[in-house]
Amino acid sequence: EVMPFLFNTQYLAKQIKNCFGLEEVIIVPGDSFADYVTKKDLGRVAARYLQKVLYPGAVIAVTGGTTLAEMSEAVGSDVLYPDILVVPARGGLGEEMELQAGTIAAKIAKAIGAQYRLLHIPDNLEENTAEILKEDVHIKDVVARIKACDILIHGIGSAMEMAARRGLTLEEINRLEEKRAVGEALRYYLDGDGNIVYAVPGIGLELGDLLHIKKVIAVAGGRNKAEAIAAVLRHGGPKVLITDEGAASKIVSMM
Ligand code: G3H
Repeated sequence: EVMPFLFNTQYLAKQIKNCFGLEEVIIVPGDSFADYVTKKDLGRVAARYLQKVLYPGAVIAVTGGTTLAEMSEAVGSDVLYPDILVVPARGGLGEEMELQAGTIAAKIAKAIGAQYRLLHIPDNLEENTAEILKEDVHIKDVVARIKACDILIHGIGSAMEMAARRGLTLEEINRLEEKRAVGEALRYYLDGDGNIVYAVPGIGLELGDLLHIKKVIAVAGGRNKAEAIAAVLRHGGPKVLITDEGAASKIVSMM
């Protein structure tokens, strides 16, 4: 029996909220894996949510990816917020320019009349290079702002898809396969139980920082991302999930 989508999404949201102890779960109808319009809706709903929770003086950190890029397209405000700061959560992950966190941060900042700061960091750093760069005063200053953010909005990716898109080495990909990585968020790869199995060297927010951030919002949809989303929720961090029916119904069927 097929339930009308409104009841179905409300039911799914309640199940996921209770199972993972979240504050809020918002589900848009459809499946962004099957249908691009659903991803646009997801972006639109996330943009609306952000506009609801932001406030003067807030520091907002964002990640990259196609979902967050859709969100940034949908942000727009009549009210300007010159004392809001928007920052990328991470730098140098090897994404295309349009999908980089910095591009998305700048776009959101412009749409709400806010400030932004970028992390100018080369892609795919060696671990020791990252350590040296972290000592640079300018980078240190931006990283301090990022870690002290009030609102974080991040995407979630399927592990293997993200590994391929970001050009991880064969050695790294083998490691992810061996450890059965299913999901990725903020450069951390997680297995199905939510354990971190690999962290790509990089600069910016660490997964542990999420504990101190007031509002952590994950935005990800598509039935292909169900395992990835569940893994991130199992690990803990996000308190708000904005997803779609495709991902949500699969997550609930796995619970
Ligand atoms: O960290 C997660 C990825 O950025 C998600 O990317 O929105 O393009 O699937 P996506």
